[in-house]
Amino acid sequence: MASGATRERLTDALRAAHAANRIPVDFPYSDDMYSEVQRARRAAFGAGLYGALGIAPGDQASRAAYKEESLRFYGAPHAAFLFVAGDGGPGLASDVGAYLRTLLLAMTAYGVASCPQGLLSFYADTVRAELGVGEGRLLVGVSFGYADESAPVNRVTAGRAPLDEVTTFHG
Ligand SMILES: Cc1cc2nc3c(=O)[nH]c(=O)nc-3n(C[C@H](O)[C@H](O)[C@H](O)COP(=O)(O)O)c2cc1C
Repeated sequence: MASGATRERLTDALRAAHAANRIPVDFPYSDDMYSEVQRARRAAFGAGLYGALGIAPGDQASRAAYKEESLRFYGAPHAAFLFVAGDGGPGLASDVGAYLRTLLLAMTAYGVASCPQGLLSFYADTVRAELGVGEGRLLVGVSFGYADESAPVNRVTAGRAPLDEVTTFHG
């Protein structure tokens, strides 16, 4: 977890890595990995998000600036990084995914707001170097702190698909 001066140093290093396009992911990522349904849900959420931020469709400069902001953890005072131990295989990675969800729920229960950021995993080597991590593969970073309730972006909520759309009932 990074806070205080370490967090400051890390944001500088992340922005430098971003400027140099140094993005050696531990877990390969591609937009193609999403199904059509997932892509549609993602686009709908993105439209709500960029709408709340006042970023017009096609405004690439503002989108790029917002992405840079994400490397500052959106202003959150703390960031946690979840590494998968061992070979980082799917079984171990899914365990860490379960841990992530529990962590987010626990934070919510304590009134702490969070933003899991898959994007931070693109900068795995930078995070490792800055935090002195020798082992494991970086799955995700989680920015967290108390929410600024007055920020319109914090009123954007992700939709939830109805049960029968995400479950196939047999028998
Ligand atoms: C695994 C995972 C990775 C994500 N990666 C990013 C990311 O890189 N950047 C980002 O701004 N939001 C990312 N999100 C979305 C936000 O963390 C958050 O889930 C979204 O704003 C919806 O808020 P809610 O989950 O509280 O409804 C990710 C979400 C998940 C579950």
